[in-house]
Amino acid sequence: MKWETFNSQAALTTRAAELMFGAIRANPKIVLGLPTGRTPIGMYDRVVQECAREYRCFSDVVTFNLDEYCGVPPDHTGSYFTYMKRHLFDHVDLDPRNTHLPNGMAPDPSAYEAEIRRAGGLDLTFLGLGRNGHIGFNEPGTPFDSRTRVVELTQSTRHANADLFPDGHVPTHAITMGIGTILESREIVLLAAGEGKAEAIERLRSGEVSEEFPASALWTHGNVSVLCGVRER
Ligand code: GLP
Repeated sequence: MKWETFNSQAALTTRAAELMFGAIRANPKIVLGLPTGRTPIGMYDRVVQECAREYRCFSDVVTFNLDEYCGVPPDHTGSYFTYMKRHLFDHVDLDPRNTHLPNGMAPDPSAYEAEIRRAGGLDLTFLGLGRNGHIGFNEPGTPFDSRTRVVELTQSTRHANADLFPDGHVPTHAITMGIGTILESREIVLLAAGEGKAEAIERLRSGEVSEEFPASALWTHGNVSVLCGVRER
């Protein structure tokens, strides 16, 4: 695992955007795995700024999001589809036919896995880190060989993401790529920063590999970069 440490979120997300752009320049038809959450917002902002200066940067790129809430229509303000439109899709030249999110209204996990396979598999996947070590929505206890499926969200994850649902109806379930699905990505970049993440970052750094701490699965993969923030509590 390659670790890079940054003393601000801005520096970390600038680096993440640089990695994404470098990968797209090297392979304009790259298949990206994409995260949501607060941490990657700065990465998407920089990618959008950079793309405005380049010609046709995303035209052949294919994207697969890690997860989506169940029972939340795509046009709901709290859906990850809305998040992706707001932070990336509406501002770059991605072909909508090349963007994919799991369908939270009629979850079909095997169809999503098949679509990823049809696209040739994930080349580069960016991940955020949950405070309890979750990646995607793979909560503690998830087997490392798990595939895309519907999961029940823990209270702590529902609480952490509650501000997306100001009416108080925080979804109880989500559809997420499995840890096994994520580990098949040829390269992985973990964005580990933000409030309340220090403990999870230290646990990951310890090198202990345990299904009780989903992000530790990344130690079993040969090509992972961790971009981590310092002084985050
Ligand atoms: C959600 C997402 C995860 C994300 C996590 C951390 O639970 N499903 O993919 O990594 O939030 O989000 P944040 O960056 O807001 O701390």
